Amino acid sequence: MTTTNSIKIALSTSLVASLLLLNSAVFAMELTPLDPAKAETVSFRKEVWPILKRHCWGCHSGGDPKGELSMDTVAEMLKGGETGPMFGPGKPDQSLLVEQIIGVEPAMPPEKAPLSQAKVDILRHWILGGAKDDSVAGEYKVTIPETYKYAPAINSLAFSTDGKRVAAACRSEVVLVDAEGDEPPQRLPTNCDLISHVEFSPNGELLVAAGGSPARFGGVTFFKASDGSVVNTREIGHDTFFRGNFSPDGLTLALGGADGAIHLVPIDPNSPPQRFELHSDWVFDVAYTPDGKMLVSGGRDKATKVCSVETGELLRSVDSSTEWISSVAADEQFGIGGGRAKTVTGYELKIALQNVQVTGAGNGAKPISRRAQYVKAFESQPGEVIDMVTSGDRKSIAIGGAYGDVRVYTIADRKRTALVSGVPNPVFSLALNNDATRLAVGGKNGEVRIYKLPEAELLKTIVPVPVADPK
Ligand code: HEC
Repeated sequence: MTTTNSIKIALSTSLVASLLLLNSAVFAMELTPLDPAKAETVSFRKEVWPILKRHCWGCHSGGDPKGELSMDTVAEMLKGGETGPMFGPGKPDQSLLVEQIIGVEPAMPPEKAPLSQAKVDILRHWILGGAKDDSVAGEYKVTIPETYKYAPAINSLAFSTDGKRVAAACRSEVVLVDAEGDEPPQRLPTNCDLISHVEFSPNGELLVAAGGSPARFGGVTFFKASDGSVVNTREIGHDTFFRGNFSPDGLTLALGGADGAIHLVPIDPNSPPQRFELHSDWVFDVAYTPDGKMLVSGGRDKATKVCSVETGELLRSVDSSTEWISSVAADEQFGIGGGRAKTVTGYELKIALQNVQVTGAGNGAKPISRRAQYVKAFESQPGEVIDMVTSGDRKSIAIGGAYGDVRVYTIADRKRTALVSGVPNPVFSLALNNDATRLAVGGKNGEVRIYKLPEAELLKTIVPVPVADPK
């Protein structure tokens, strides 16, 4: 594109146009003939949009698209970017769009696998047919299949406050599963491409699903827990959310973001969201302390941090790991972080947040490292830790990841109280009920398993969504 851009600056528009035509004459030779009948039937929503989303949106969507070209809507593509419209309807092979994606080494997407011939031909047929926009206004064009080909991975789990239901994040939908009886699952769609966090509010009235679309938006949907109706949906910022936690008063949801910020999202749709920028990379998880005053956070920058909810001020980076921190938790006494380094560490917050003490005097004065005093390690885990969850009463913590078992501990003394072996590996998500007598385990294989604790007895295995017969 650099050439086109410099040419654009140097030459008049008509010259650029003839240059494009000239180019089209050159590349027309390698383009296959189009079928006008097929052109009539191409659907933007079903065929074109998924291609753009997969191959182009990483750079041409959201707040600051590359080349000033947003491909979020057909109207924006017609408007175009720095060089002007991407295409004129009916004329695929004289278009900037097609010019950019064909050839042995297509310009777009840069440094990535080129679009297949089939995908290029879908785009060409769609333009030939007039580039019709069959998307529904205002609708986020996430498609949720009636029946899935393969069970989607379970990215997050939560027990309802009464322990009777389990909410499971299945790609773009939350599915409410009956934890005890045989009520059929209830499916609640969202407009997120991927949900990464589900949780019931502390009083049990709301269910939240948070996630979003990479490089597009962070999405949060609050549902009424009793009937699954949508209370409100918010799209915030330009990147997806990871995991988080309801504030103890149930008024705010804290979430880690792919933009490196901690986001506080009030339930009240008229209150603006807040963001705290304390990490230098993706924030994978955030947890409130039970008094609602502090947040423990961890992420891809390998740091576990504690900040003030009121001011957003960093109180302390309590630790830095050799690897990502995937999950965090907190009780009255401890902040807890765990991740890829196969370790789970508790940080005694009171000691960690005391003023730095100094030893020696004058030039010889140096701070005493009290890390050893406030760091309380859990037994190390056999593999990468992916999720850690506390029970509703915050007395127990369940830890799981890429190693085929789930371990449950009392937080206060870090003693193991249950070992659930033979769980599908890897585990992506866990949930404990209020008093840690039930554990839900979800993973890559798309199953939700419910166990009785501390016996580790398997009570139920369910795939929350309908899946086509594997045969
Ligand atoms: C990895 C990032 C990235 C991806 C993915 C990407 N682009 Fe681009 N695109 C850019 C950048 C950067 C520019 C502007 C700089 C330049 O001219 O090369 C650009 C410019 C363009 C332009 C010219 C805009 C103008 O008006 O000058 C078009 C057309 C375009 N891209 C189409 C596409 C299409 C179609 C896809 C998907 C098949 C795609 N791009 C995927 C980074 C990307």
